[in-house]
Amino acid sequence: MSRSERLRLVVLISGSGSNLQAIIDACASGAIDGEIVAVISNRGDAYGLQRAQAAGIPTEVLDHRDYPDRESFDRALMARINHYRPELVVLAGFMRILTPAFVRHYAGRMLNIHPSLLPHFQGLHTHRRALEADHEVHGASVHFVTEGLDGGPVVLQAEVPVLPGDDESTLAARVLEQEHRIYPAVIQWFAEGRLRMDPQKGVVLDEDALEQPVRWPAHRAD
Ligand code: GAR
Repeated sequence: MSRSERLRLVVLISGSGSNLQAIIDACASGAIDGEIVAVISNRGDAYGLQRAQAAGIPTEVLDHRDYPDRESFDRALMARINHYRPELVVLAGFMRILTPAFVRHYAGRMLNIHPSLLPHFQGLHTHRRALEADHEVHGASVHFVTEGLDGGPVVLQAEVPVLPGDDESTLAARVLEQEHRIYPAVIQWFAEGRLRMDPQKGVVLDEDALEQPVRWPAHRAD
């Protein structure tokens, strides 16, 4: 499938936005045939907002504490997202649990990145838990968002070795580096029309229903 226009992306963040930066850079270099039309944060102090502004991307802050419950926050967020008419919603360190109505609304057009080899270590503190479990291989996953927390169909994973002497922060840094490779790659597959989520088949890449996520090994040379 070819596209005449660049894929419209809205990116949701809560923090540093290093994944956002990787996506900004990939859009600028042409590695992603897409355009970030807005960055929305639930925290006014998220550093990622500055990254977006430096790149000339419109930003908005919707503070979840201004809303009485999850449903009303998600409704307001949906209205702001839809204002920008995105074709893909990209969760990049957006640290909020989403309501089923929100997730259903963007079914098949919302991606998330999670710092573990799913289904291992859903939820928080993934690096600490990988160290405690003595895993020799850890990593990151990009997946479509469905109603289960960190449970949607996984598209691409990068493996990261756990090295002797690692602590949470050294391991997190090594994983983050790989996140910055796999997230732009998956977004580009979507932009090229190669990737979709099928309600029955799960992830479909190049018209093949994936039985397993694509895995990039730790020392992939490219
Ligand atoms: C990333 O490691 C991302 O995988 C993680 O938050 C970090 C955000 O970093 N996301 C989650 O844990 C989601 N459950 P960034 O703001 O520098 O991109």
